[in-house]
Amino acid sequence: MTINVEGKLINGKETAAAILREVAQDVERFVKEYEQPRLAVVIVGDDPASHSYVHSKVKACERCGIGSIHIELPASTSEEELLERVDGLNGDSSVHGILVQLPLPPQIDQQHIIERISPDKDVDGFHPYNMGRLAADKPRFVPCTPQGIIELLDRYDVETAGKRAVIVGRSIIVGKPLALLLSMKGGHGNATVTIAHSKTVDLAAVTREADILVAAVGQPKVITADMVMEGAVVIDVGTNRITDPSAKKGYRWVGDVDFDAVVQKVSRITPVPGGVGPMTIAMLMKNTLTAAQWAQRAIDEQ
Ligand code: GUN
Repeated sequence: MTINVEGKLINGKETAAAILREVAQDVERFVKEYEQPRLAVVIVGDDPASHSYVHSKVKACERCGIGSIHIELPASTSEEELLERVDGLNGDSSVHGILVQLPLPPQIDQQHIIERISPDKDVDGFHPYNMGRLAADKPRFVPCTPQGIIELLDRYDVETAGKRAVIVGRSIIVGKPLALLLSMKGGHGNATVTIAHSKTVDLAAVTREADILVAAVGQPKVITADMVMEGAVVIDVGTNRITDPSAKKGYRWVGDVDFDAVVQKVSRITPVPGGVGPMTIAMLMKNTLTAAQWAQRAIDEQ
């Protein structure tokens, strides 16, 4: 039996492009009256995947008229040096958003860096203040990947209220904030949420209960067809680079979901690439514009 794969796809690339166009229009209006929103992107070390993400983030800034500063630091950078860089960006009023690409080299305590970024410039939404606001049902900056997932569910009319959502992965980048958003009263929430992780017993039994299954593990094809309920909506957050001698570059990107098998069972699924990834970037652009707008409002209110 042939199935219509195309009809099941949640197209993040197309949705993100539409959002970037909306952001570009809002940026244009803002620039006319005030100044250009500006994002600082800091990357430490030479992890190829991180460089590829950062490149896409800087490109997206260009596409929607947001200024960017791209700071590349060597893998040997000390925590003290990176904290000083963050202090400099916090104090620079022409910078509205700061993003330090994760993960960081082992000599740097990630949490120290996250907590040093001014909550007003924390376009990643990882600072405990912004995380706390989300947990308190009063979101301010919301992490980009979970926000992008909610936006996709919304734009594709995927009902969440009363549904069972299972998120595999408990990171602060995806799993935890997404669980808060999906269980929130109102909005695109009201789901019954389970977070599964590496210590979950009988993971397949848990994931098979999911009306909405989110895979944010960071391992290629770990979600197999037997772990998915017939008719489920599957969101694949994974972007794993695997070697493929038949590919032009010698590698290709695959998700956490065994797409070819899982697509047979589901009602909706995000592809990799072209699913969640572009949405993360679109939400980052939105957050950067918001940061510039809030900074301007604070000036106007002085
Ligand atoms: N590494 C993977 N995803 C992200 C993200 O959304 N923000 C940052 N800063 N680092 C990441």
